[in-house]
Amino acid sequence: MSAKKITVNLFERSYPIIIQKNGFQQLGRLLKKMQLGNAACIITNSRVQALYGKELALSLTRNGIATSFIRIADSEKSKSAKVYFDTVTKISKIDTKKRLFLIAFGGGVAGDLCGFIAATYKRGINYIQVPTTLLAQVDSAIGGKTAIDLASGKNLLGAFCQPRLVYSNLSLLQSLPKRQIRSGIAEIVKYGVISDKKLFGYIEKNYKKILKLDPNALLYLVASASRIKADVVSRDERETLGLRAVLNFGHTIGHALETATKYNKLNHGEAVSIGMTAAAQIARQMGLLKQETFLRIEQLLKHMDLPVKTKNSNFRAVLKAFYRDKKFIRGKVRMVLPTRLGHVIVTEDIPLNLIKTVIKNRVVS
Ligand SMILES: NC(=O)c1ccc[n+]([C@@H]2O[C@H](COP(=O)([O-])OP(=O)(O)OC[C@H]3O[C@@H](n4cnc5c(N)ncnc54)[C@H](O)[C@@H]3O)[C@@H](O)[C@H]2O)c1
Ligand SMILES: [Zn+2]
Repeated sequence: MSAKKITVNLFERSYPIIIQKNGFQQLGRLLKKMQLGNAACIITNSRVQALYGKELALSLTRNGIATSFIRIADSEKSKSAKVYFDTVTKISKIDTKKRLFLIAFGGGVAGDLCGFIAATYKRGINYIQVPTTLLAQVDSAIGGKTAIDLASGKNLLGAFCQPRLVYSNLSLLQSLPKRQIRSGIAEIVKYGVISDKKLFGYIEKNYKKILKLDPNALLYLVASASRIKADVVSRDERETLGLRAVLNFGHTIGHALETATKYNKLNHGEAVSIGMTAAAQIARQMGLLKQETFLRIEQLLKHMDLPVKTKNSNFRAVLKAFYRDKKFIRGKVRMVLPTRLGHVIVTEDIPLNLIKTVIKNRVVS
């Protein structure tokens, strides 16, 4: 099998996730059939455009869809109010007679910005996601959370806006820097721990193949992870039922680590890897998780060359960031803790001293 299809079920806003081992041929044909519009504005950066822009554009023009590119800088700084205004201004200039839709072509940065533009320009227009990083394919491109950053914090200005299609072409991952690959793998390990014991076992067994980007292994991983994310989003689109909260496993302490290192020493996946190990350690010390399972989680992350401790951070700074987090309410913090592989609980019943001890243990000075 070289392709898989998964559906995000949201009634009239349902959409498919198509995962292809390679090629864009099917994308142009699909877009023609979907009749989203006859002109596509592709939001990307110059690196991704240089690597794959021609191939993407060709598949669209062959199917009667005109294309234009808008390039944003290759940086988280592109998720800013300035870049947002500059980009919508450019879009309004090319938005003439044709029916325009947007394509987010890149990692989470292009995806989040493009999605926020699609949510707000003309009170909402169609967009699709063509994710080019592993993290975007298994996480940010699915679920319709769109946002830009403000000086006071990340993702503060945003909206829920579902794409009409997610098209993941796995061959694009071959050019991704290894560190970026590992960042995506951390999120996939997360999906295994929270709801898929089989996926966890597969990564344990095939970690060498995965690190070599074997196409069959990637197809299995991206499809399994996308299915879990699609399922959670289908059941709790706007995070109102508390179900989507399970996706935060590893992210409470992970975010504190990212903030404390000012987003430049640890990337997102690395911070989440340490965060997951810390959450598993807390669960173990509370008697919720077997020692053997804690060790399997820690060992798997190590096998994937992901950190489970860091020297790049200062304990006090991490603790400060942790206390400031919005998840911290009335002296209690809500965390996602694993109880066995494939199962987690969301709880506020955690001794603060235990959290502190575990953070201290993970942030070695
Ligand atoms: N919306 C959501 O639900 C959600 C979820 C998780 C993360 N995010 C957001 O995602 C962003 C991070 O996303 P990211 O990790 O994909 O980062 P990114 O978009 O910055 O991409 C990482 C790097 O990879 C390069 N790149 C992309 N595709 C490539 C390819 N195929 N070959 C070679 N290089 C390539 C990019 O140019 C960039 O330098 C953050 O802003 C985060 O807030 C959003
Ligand atoms: Zn994440």
